[in-house]
Amino acid sequence: MTDRLSAEELAAMLDPCGNEPLRLARKILVLAETGSTNDVAAQMARSGEAEGVVVFAESQTAGRGRLGRHWESALHKGLWFSMLLRPGLAFSNWSRLTTWVAVGVARGLEEALPGCRASVKWPNDIYLNDRKAAGILIECSTDANGFAVAGIGVNVNHSREDFPEELITRATSLREASAKSEEVDRQKVAVALLRQLDRLYCGLAEDFPALVAEAEARSILIGRQIEMRGAAGTGTLRGIAEGLEPDGSLRIRTEDGLVQTLSGGEVSICGWW
Ligand code: BTN
Repeated sequence: MTDRLSAEELAAMLDPCGNEPLRLARKILVLAETGSTNDVAAQMARSGEAEGVVVFAESQTAGRGRLGRHWESALHKGLWFSMLLRPGLAFSNWSRLTTWVAVGVARGLEEALPGCRASVKWPNDIYLNDRKAAGILIECSTDANGFAVAGIGVNVNHSREDFPEELITRATSLREASAKSEEVDRQKVAVALLRQLDRLYCGLAEDFPALVAEAEARSILIGRQIEMRGAAGTGTLRGIAEGLEPDGSLRIRTEDGLVQTLSGGEVSICGWW
């Protein structure tokens, strides 16, 4: 049986006593279909909506990933949602959101799937068993009414054949990673993710070093030979990933022994795929 997302059920699961909704999930919307949940949340932000809206869609017709890529959002198979945020931080620190979401999603997946270890492929892909299970797309508007939208896509009940050809060897789902035959309850996963993200949100301002330390401990890149294509002015940058800097950027030692920090982009592990 395929489960359905329900805004009322999600709200009740998050706040069973009905008196203290999560700061980040004050209002929950579930859409049957939309272009991109990030666009819906951004539109609400531009109309003056406060922080704390979460928009889920059962399917997206124009789901997007980082670097302008298409994001496959199969009907009822995954969790495709966006959170509207108005971080109380200087804009120069909004890059911290990346580390926060990555750690929150990793913790949420582990809560939903006890026994699984979730890793972070910097900056914001979440891996289970060396395959990508979730991706994060953060989009910001830093004008006077600034807001950020954290879009999260989680492969939950996909089977191998549900992934497009080019992702078959790289992607996984929670169901596959759990090695159980029954479907994973998407609402329980959504609740675990929202709770963990909400719990960690204050750490953005108050204890960011702890978030960076956890992202580093979960990183699949550290100690590995990596490369980044199209790195500014260099063509391809290769080196060993050494660690994360206090602001969450990636520190690498290049082949000629120099230390470089990367604040974003797409890195690959040499020798993978
Ligand atoms: C990536 O891995 O490149 C990021 C993928 C982010 C996908 C999510 S699904 C919900 C939200 N809406 C979108 O259009 N994208 C994000």
